[in-house]
Amino acid sequence: MTITIRPIDPSFAAEVSDIDLRAPLTAPAVAAIEAAMDRYAVLVFHDQPVTDEQQMAFTLGFGSIEHAQGGNITRADEYRLQDGMIDVSNLDQSGRPFDRNDRRRMFNLGNRLWHSDSSYRAVPARYSLLSARTPAGRGGDTEFADMRAAYEALDDEMRALIEDLVCEHSLLYSRGSMGFSGFSEAEREAFRPVRQRLVRVHPVTGRRSLYLSSHIGTIVGWPVPEARDLVRDLTEHATQRRFVYAHRWRHYDLVMWDNRQTMHRVRRFDESQPRDMRRTTVAGDAMTVAQEQVLSREVPGGRDGQ
Ligand code: OGA
Ligand code: MN
Repeated sequence: MTITIRPIDPSFAAEVSDIDLRAPLTAPAVAAIEAAMDRYAVLVFHDQPVTDEQQMAFTLGFGSIEHAQGGNITRADEYRLQDGMIDVSNLDQSGRPFDRNDRRRMFNLGNRLWHSDSSYRAVPARYSLLSARTPAGRGGDTEFADMRAAYEALDDEMRALIEDLVCEHSLLYSRGSMGFSGFSEAEREAFRPVRQRLVRVHPVTGRRSLYLSSHIGTIVGWPVPEARDLVRDLTEHATQRRFVYAHRWRHYDLVMWDNRQTMHRVRRFDESQPRDMRRTTVAGDAMTVAQEQVLSREVPGGRDGQ
């Protein structure tokens, strides 16, 4: 069976069918999905009742798995899922929704801010794969913004201004912006800011994109308020409805996105009910600050300098 890829009108995402994610991945399927990811950046797979093991096996077809350590405040002994799985549900170890004041709930509220996964890591994530084991009863859509289209809609003056800018990203900034505080010394150490280019070049297509995230706290060499003003302005621009695909979850949907070319956020939902969402993440392979910007817009083509 050959897989079918159908763009989701009118946005940038696509739906993939005629594939069973529980079955071993074939090389042609990997190639077709990667090509579709390069083009559409967000892929939706419906009716995929995967187990954690099957989700991890499918994920490994695209690279190595990024682990949760350093990305949250949940202690190892509090973790509900096995190593390799990222728990973005609202559930504690016994499967009950977090209490209103639970520190883990507060921290997870940061997913409601536009972000790119693990942009706070020196080598940030490539793909994320999110499986809806139990979607929210009400609300809880996940929205995706196309950062290539957003970049391409900027005028020449803005493109020139931002071309070589480098931002500092940290969970301390995104959580701090929501008023979350009281980080321990160990957390501060784990969440030390890292540097990322503001403009990325896709290693295969050569398309540029804005690398924005709520984890950004400043721009290297800029006064902080001026940096935050520009980042806020660009974020507002990049998240206009015309650049956004909103995904309404169905049971056993799996959505896969390219963190190098998109931002995402989850919307409000009924937190008295379980929302069991499980993520796997394909690790990136290089630091964005090592990317050579000399690759020009006119020369699309393979490059692994990302
Ligand atoms: C994520 C994330 C949003 C959601 O898994 O990285 O931001 O819809 N999740 O839960
Ligand atoms: Mn996320």
